[in-house]
Amino acid sequence: MQVPQGLGRVLVTIPTYNERDNLERVVGRVLEAVPRVDVLVIDDSSPDGTGDLADTLAAADDRVKVLHRAGKEGLGAAYIAGFRWALERGYDVLVEMDADGSHQPEELPALLGALGDADVVIGARWVPGGRIVNWPRSREVLSRGANTYARMMLGFPLHDATGGYRAYRATALEKIGLDGVDSRGYCFQIDLAWRAVKADLRVAEVPITFIEREHGNSKMSRDIMAEAMWKLTRWGLAARVEQIRGRR
Ligand code: GDD
Ligand code: MN
Repeated sequence: MQVPQGLGRVLVTIPTYNERDNLERVVGRVLEAVPRVDVLVIDDSSPDGTGDLADTLAAADDRVKVLHRAGKEGLGAAYIAGFRWALERGYDVLVEMDADGSHQPEELPALLGALGDADVVIGARWVPGGRIVNWPRSREVLSRGANTYARMMLGFPLHDATGGYRAYRATALEKIGLDGVDSRGYCFQIDLAWRAVKADLRVAEVPITFIEREHGNSKMSRDIMAEAMWKLTRWGLAARVEQIRGRR
């Protein structure tokens, strides 16, 4: 698929925490798949030295940038810092991608292509054509369950609101406004999807193949799940209250 010409400057943001064995490969694949993008690594002072590796990659290629953060504050906090960095520098499109090879850089043209008539594109697993490879059954159940709960609580039509492979127009992020976003863990993804829907932005889902990492470990935790559950419940109830108020 062709990347539309009119998209402007594209930045692929990659949050990292202990991804030393994955980072170089994924950055290389991104720059190979779509040479005209820049890449921003957002590292939370990984103890394994991922940040130093990112600096080495940045020294070797102008397209690679690094944002060092003081400590591990969660995926959501890392992305917000990265998005602010990008908006300040005038990027027009921001892509989210995991560092561990789960998101295929070769599918980036499809995501960017869909941005032609959308403001936000979510790479989705739970749509026709979407696939998962090597994901433990427990993670599949968790992800499908979280998405069912999200649809139920929020009443939106998305199938993979937790998915972390996305493309946003900068104008969409400006309209959403990042100031009020306090989701720290993976519910950041649902949070932004929900804000995009509420802001009447055009959100599209394109099928992707999600391949479980071969090196390192997932940072999914009980706390991350708990945050997602209680936030979803809170947002759902708030939406109901607004709906009822609106009817009066
Ligand atoms: N900077 C930073 N800080 N990066 C982080 C942090 C953090 O606190 N936590 C995780 N990351 C990075 C990881 O290093 C990796 O590049 C990416 O975020 C995803 O983390 P994983 O731990 O590999 O996530 P996962 O495979 O369990 O979960 C995937 O699926 C979830 C559910 O669909 C991700 O795509 C999630 O975004 C998604 O919500
Ligand atoms: Mn992963």
